[in-house]
Amino acid sequence: MFCTFMYLQKIMRIELKNQKEFFIDQLIDLLKIPSISANPHYKGDIKKTAKWLKNALHDIGCSSVKIYETKGNPIVYGEVITSKDAPTVLVYGHYDVQPPDPIELWESPPFEPVIKKTELHPKGAIFARGACDDKGQMFMHLKAVELLLKNNSLGCNVKFVIEGEEEVGSNNLEKFISDHKSILQSEIIIISDTGINSIENPAITTGLRGLSYMEVTVTGPNRDLHSGLYGGTLANPINILCDMIASLHNENKKVNIPGFYDHVEEISESQRKMMNVNGADDKSFKSSIGIEAVMGEKGFTTLDRRSIRPTLDVNGIWGGYTGEGAKTVIPSQAHAKISMRLVPHQKWENISKLFEEHFKSIAPKGVKVKITTHHGGNAYVTPTDSLAYKAAEKAYSDVFGVVPFAKRDGGSIPIVPMFEKALGTKTLLMGFGFDSDAIHSPNEHFGIDNFLKGIETITLFYTHYSELHKNI
Ligand code: BES
Ligand code: MN
Ligand code: MN
Repeated sequence: MFCTFMYLQKIMRIELKNQKEFFIDQLIDLLKIPSISANPHYKGDIKKTAKWLKNALHDIGCSSVKIYETKGNPIVYGEVITSKDAPTVLVYGHYDVQPPDPIELWESPPFEPVIKKTELHPKGAIFARGACDDKGQMFMHLKAVELLLKNNSLGCNVKFVIEGEEEVGSNNLEKFISDHKSILQSEIIIISDTGINSIENPAITTGLRGLSYMEVTVTGPNRDLHSGLYGGTLANPINILCDMIASLHNENKKVNIPGFYDHVEEISESQRKMMNVNGADDKSFKSSIGIEAVMGEKGFTTLDRRSIRPTLDVNGIWGGYTGEGAKTVIPSQAHAKISMRLVPHQKWENISKLFEEHFKSIAPKGVKVKITTHHGGNAYVTPTDSLAYKAAEKAYSDVFGVVPFAKRDGGSIPIVPMFEKALGTKTLLMGFGFDSDAIHSPNEHFGIDNFLKGIETITLFYTHYSELHKNI
């Protein structure tokens, strides 16, 4: 068996070397379409991207390729059924991207991809919105299957589900899943939408945090007022909102909402020590984002704070006069967007309710508070003793030359726990991006080496996974 893998790996490397430029050109083509899900102005580009993917799935040899319309953005489906005895893998990815704002901070236009070398990507990286999150990572899966099919070496059945609303909460995917349970049956779901620490020290993500996303509006007087005539006589909604937000953390930077920590998964000191072995030191963390000091919940490391602990952050705050120059005004309203990252056993609906009750309860007389719950999702932890994990571990080892470690990530993919609830299927997170790839930020990029190693790892995953299946 050993020889077969070595042989396949060799073939894949040669193929990848030959096809590299072609694959990159195709990805660049995909990255040029501004499939921004947050802004309805881009509906046409969303449609165009779905069609592009439909053709791409068709071209690599998928059957039953179809664009499923939803109340929101379309979902693209395609499958490769090799044998009824082979294990089935469902690949999930998303073709929608975050808005590129603030656009003036991009060194090259977000939808005109360019390849540039960086310190962490000496072999070059593609700069474009969606390069890493998630078009580049999702596209690796199409290319891996294409290479295997070409070489008659695909030992699994593969089903692709590629959606266009992940960045806005996957609102219509749940219904699609429950409406199509039978076609979506699989042994495992694989997703490349997370990251590794470095090429030298790769990791498999075993945890994602949950999310509760809230919007608050504080209303005071029935109109904006002259601050000279009225200032100091009434509750200024912005001043009040700031007080309220400031009170949401105590002096130890714990979240000050009653019940917030009630069900938080407690991780033992020794387990935390193990988890922290591969954590970046604070020095490099600080310098990578240009800060002089870290800050967070007392008693926890930076890695803990960004993976296994729940947090609360203001994502945006506005109100009053924000234009050029000065305008003396007491605003009628103040607004903020506030998100909470959640950990296992916290339920996002419950946390959103706790937030709402608490936030209303701390409002002083003289203002009204309105709260909207945007999307949410629960945390997820993947097993490390599964066949899929073992296959992935082998595949990463083959390609990177070291055994990958298991790490919990701080980001969220709310559809993962939904998949398990609706289909009973577990997910394996095979990411290849770096934290420094600037996802959601200006100058997002994805390393060419990450892209190629990702494709190679995925091809070997299928091979190991089908072999492990034969032995059970
Ligand atoms: N791919 C990210 C999630 C991610 C990134 C997880 C890196 C782990 C490591 C995904 O596209 C994303 O941005 N998710 C959102 C949640 C969504 C509901 C908007 C997030 O985490 O903010
Ligand atoms: Mn993503
Ligand atoms: Mn994202």
